[in-house]
Amino acid sequence: MSLDSYKKIFPTLGKNTFVHPSAVLVGDIKLADNVSIWPLVAARGDVNHISIGARTNVQDGSVLHVTRKTKSHPEGFPLIIGEDVTVGHKVMLHGCELGNRILVGMGAIVMDGAKVQDDVIIGAGSLVPPNKVLESGYLYVGSPVKQARPLSESEKAFLTQSAENYVLLKNEYIAEQGN
Ligand SMILES: CC(C)(COP(=O)(O)OP(=O)(O)OC[C@H]1O[C@@H](n2cnc3c(N)ncnc32)[C@H](O)[C@@H]1OP(=O)(O)O)[C@@H](O)C(=O)NCCC(=O)NCCS
Repeated sequence: MSLDSYKKIFPTLGKNTFVHPSAVLVGDIKLADNVSIWPLVAARGDVNHISIGARTNVQDGSVLHVTRKTKSHPEGFPLIIGEDVTVGHKVMLHGCELGNRILVGMGAIVMDGAKVQDDVIIGAGSLVPPNKVLESGYLYVGSPVKQARPLSESEKAFLTQSAENYVLLKNEYIAEQGN
């Protein structure tokens, strides 16, 4: 796998994490236990930090980056991703904050300062503009996103199931690597 340092800070990996060999992780990035990072993900924790919570998966071709600290934004915009989050294929997450049990649909873009509360689905191809707050328990779709409807109980259950599916899948990949 490709783990590079920036200013002598390397990514740190929790227990049983899986980073596909084609993914590139640079700088101040912390992966909690059982995180999986799939082919061609590019994550750059250089001008701020990235943290990814337990059992979260970041799928193929996704791009993760951050924004530096400035006078008007002393903390800048780190990228914070919670637990049991599914980040679909080719998603762009930039300087935003995601809670727990979220599905970010394929090709979605989430911009600086956006905050996604727990238990949210963001539809494929959606755009979440800067500083937008997505309320817990809802489906959001569109560009820019609009609240579409409350999530059903089965959709809420699926959020945890999706993360669990990816934990099982990455365990199979880890086992294959050991062969
Ligand atoms: C958003 C999503 C969950 C909606 O599923 P759904 O239950 O079929 O949605 P609904 O039937 O409630 O549709 C609500 C409306 O939103 C529209 N819609 C559905 N997905 C949309 C999307 N991604 N963007 C814009 N509009 C969307 C539907 O056409 C429908 O519009 P209408 O009321 O005018 O007919 C699904 O389409 C989606 O985008 N899933 C993401 C899957 C993914 O990317 N997974 C990660 C990789 S594993």
